[in-house]
Amino acid sequence: MKFNWKSIKKPVFVLAPMANITTLPFRSICRDFGADIVYTPMLSSNAVIHNTEKTLKIGSFLPEEKPVIVQLFGYDGSLIAKAANLVNKTLEPAGIDINLGCPAPKITGNECGSALLKDTAKATEIIKIVRDQFDGQLSVKMRLGWALFDTLDFVKSLENIGIDALSVHGRTAKQGYKGESNWIAINQIADKTQLPVIGNGDVKSWEVAYNRLEKSRLVGVMIGRGALGNPWIFKEIRDRSKVVVTKGELVKIITFQANRYVDFSGERKAMQEMRKHLGWYIKDFPGALTIRKEAMQINTYNDLLEVLKMLESY
Ligand SMILES: Cc1cc2nc3c(=O)[nH]c(=O)nc-3n(C[C@H](O)[C@H](O)[C@H](O)COP(=O)(O)O)c2cc1C
Repeated sequence: MKFNWKSIKKPVFVLAPMANITTLPFRSICRDFGADIVYTPMLSSNAVIHNTEKTLKIGSFLPEEKPVIVQLFGYDGSLIAKAANLVNKTLEPAGIDINLGCPAPKITGNECGSALLKDTAKATEIIKIVRDQFDGQLSVKMRLGWALFDTLDFVKSLENIGIDALSVHGRTAKQGYKGESNWIAINQIADKTQLPVIGNGDVKSWEVAYNRLEKSRLVGVMIGRGALGNPWIFKEIRDRSKVVVTKGELVKIITFQANRYVDFSGERKAMQEMRKHLGWYIKDFPGALTIRKEAMQINTYNDLLEVLKMLESY
């Protein structure tokens, strides 16, 4: 059955888009652990059109990962729509999401990501062009605003344009990652619109995930950093209980992820990427500091096996 935001089974627990992280190897593991919907990292609309093969690789997924949402960023509605149609035709994702949240200067400097929230009238025009030219499932992921929480009317405009869903990270762009995600503001947005709204920010345990849904119109919760080194958070949410991962199980999970990385991007790149994941996975163990130091230097699969041996023997 074709994915449709309007018929999702509530509540949904969603893996957030994270650049350089939510590519196939990590994303598929989160899905294995029970994430209901998963997002790719943001892809540049421009790059989708001009460097298609390499860019679409970042958004590619396994059939069993579905539903996968591919996220795009850009500043030109027609260009984003063109990229959306190309992604849709080639990868056939469940939907396309537009990034109105990224605060990184290299993105906002090009008037993309959260910079679009500086002028919500212009952002509305851009999203309307995408909506008019792309007929697949279309969602938006945004922050509360550029410098202030001032997006309630904008959300209504997005609904009127006919987007299908919205996810909201409860910080302004100016805040970066400081302070706490403002779930009161997220709920004000959810109360203002008929759109399915997913709340996001600082959810790091299954208890908090459910807590955020209490007395709320939200259809789900999106988790980013809480899944790093902790993809089983989605199983914890599903089972409503803490998962205790033994060292042996951890070694299996890491090996599985590393193998998927090697298949996805070759040994060298895979090991470079695995360094940061090892940093997140290897904590709260005796000798973690020493093992992490070794992990940061792996270049080959054999280096990884050495690190795993160390982990097992400590
Ligand atoms: C390393 C990293 C990369 C991110 N990349 C993206 C991205 O590509 N697109 C996007 O919309 N948000 C991106 N985000 C923001 C997350 O999706 C999420 O909104 C934010 O981290 C807050 O949720 P959390 O507290 O659950 O992590 C990124 C966040 C991190 C930490």
